[in-house]
Amino acid sequence: MTEQWTPASWRTKPAKHMPGDYPDAAALAKAEQTLRAMPPLVFAGEARRLKSLLGDVSEGRAFLLQGGDCAESFKEFAADNIRDTFRLVLQMAVVLTFAGGKPVVKVGRMAGQFAKPRSSATETQGDVTLPSYRGDNINAMEFTPEARRPDPERLLKAYGQSAATLNLVRAFAGGGYADLYNIHRWTLGFVNDSPLGARYAELAEKISESLTFMAAIGVTPESHPNLHQVEFFTAHEALLLGAEEAMTRVDSTSGEWYDTSAHLLWIGERTRQLDGAHVEFFRGVRNPIGVKVGPTLEAEELLRLTEVLNPKNEPGRLTLYGRFGSDKIAGRLPGLMAATKRAGRSVVWAIDPMHGNTLTAANGYKTRPFDRILSEVKSFVEIAKAEGVHPGGVHLEMTGQNVTECVGGARALTEGDLADRYHTHCDPRLNGEQALELAFLVAEKLKEDRVDMNRRAAV
Ligand code: PEP
Ligand code: CO
Repeated sequence: MTEQWTPASWRTKPAKHMPGDYPDAAALAKAEQTLRAMPPLVFAGEARRLKSLLGDVSEGRAFLLQGGDCAESFKEFAADNIRDTFRLVLQMAVVLTFAGGKPVVKVGRMAGQFAKPRSSATETQGDVTLPSYRGDNINAMEFTPEARRPDPERLLKAYGQSAATLNLVRAFAGGGYADLYNIHRWTLGFVNDSPLGARYAELAEKISESLTFMAAIGVTPESHPNLHQVEFFTAHEALLLGAEEAMTRVDSTSGEWYDTSAHLLWIGERTRQLDGAHVEFFRGVRNPIGVKVGPTLEAEELLRLTEVLNPKNEPGRLTLYGRFGSDKIAGRLPGLMAATKRAGRSVVWAIDPMHGNTLTAANGYKTRPFDRILSEVKSFVEIAKAEGVHPGGVHLEMTGQNVTECVGGARALTEGDLADRYHTHCDPRLNGEQALELAFLVAEKLKEDRVDMNRRAAV
C-alpha cells in the first residue's frame, strides 16, 4: 500500500460488486468524462468541517445521527420525500440532543445513495435468470433484459438528481424550515398520535419546557438566527469507483484530493478488502470516511484497515459502523472495540442496526423487526460503556414516508401489513413513526448513561 496513490490507482486492484457488464465501454468512459466536467456537489471545506465534528464525536463530545433511504431511486424522487426525511432527521436529532446532552451531527444518506452491492449477481424468476438490479444509477428494477442492462446515462441522471436534492436540502437547512420550535411542534404531533405516546410524553414535555425557558430569557430564533438553521451533511456508499473518481478533485486551498460527490463516503461490508480497489481509492481522498464492520471481521484486519485508511490517526477521519445483528453483537463487538482502544486508534464507533437484522417473512417480503433493531442499538451502548469507548452514533435506513417495510413498533406492524406500502428499492426502512420512536427509546438509553456518568463523576 505504499505505492503512489492517484484517483485512478484503484483500477489496478480487484474491485468487487462493480458492474462489469456495461455493453458499451466507450459509452461508460464518455459518461465518466462528462461527470468529470460537472461542478462539485460539495466543497472540501464542508468535508473538513464534518471531519472536525466527527472528531468531537470520537472524543465523546457529540453524537452522530446518519439516516435515509437504503437506495434512492428515480421513481421516488420528489420534493415531499426529501423534505419528510430531512425533517425526520431533525426531529430525531432534537430528541437525541436533549437526552444525550450533546450536539448531534446530522448526516443524510441522500443526494447520491444509489448504487447497491447485491448478494447475488443474478436473479431468477420462474425459469428466467437476469442480472440483479444494482441501483438506479446502474440499471432498472423491472425484470426484463433491457431494464437490467447497465446504462451509463443513468450516472448522469443520478448526478442531476443528487444536485437537485442537495439544493433543496441546503435551502431547508439554511432558510428557516429547520426552526427549532417548529421541529419540536411536529414532534409533539407525533407524540399525540402514537399509540405509545404516553411513554414519550415526559421527554417531549421536558423539551417543551426547555424551549419555553429559552424563549423567556430571550433566546428565540429572532434573537439567535442559528436556531433557524442547521448544519446538514450528505453521505453514500461509494461503490461505483469510476463515478467517484470522476468527482474527485484537488482542493485549491489545501492542494489535497477530495471526493466532491458527498461530504462523507463509506466502504460497504462487502468491499472492504485490504488489497481491494475500494480501500485503495479511499486511502487517498481526504473526506471523512466510514467502513462497515460485520460479524466476520477479525480485530487484526480491522487494525490494518484503520492504519491504511487513517495513517495519521486523525480524529474524525474514520467512522466504523458495526452491523452484526442483535444476536451476534455481544460475541463480536467487544473484541473489536477493545482492539481499537488498546492500539490507540482514533475512530468513531457507531452502530448500523439494520443490516444484521434482515429476514424474509413467510410471504416473501424482506423485513426487519423493530425490536431487534432497538436491541442492537441498546447492546451497542452497553458494550461501548463496558469497553470504555464512546457510543458515537447510529446509522439507519429510514424514510419520512408512512411505508410498511419493518415489522413491529408502536403500531405493531405485522408481516401481513407489509404488502400495503412496501416501496423500498432495496432494503426495508423504518417509517417516520418507527424512526422517531427509535430516537425516543435510544434517547432513554443515552440519558440513563449520562445520568450514570454524572453520578460517578460526582462521587
Ligand atoms: C447498506 O448500507 O445499504 C449496505 C449495503 O450495508 P452493508 O455494506 O453493511 O451490508
Ligand atoms: Co441497505
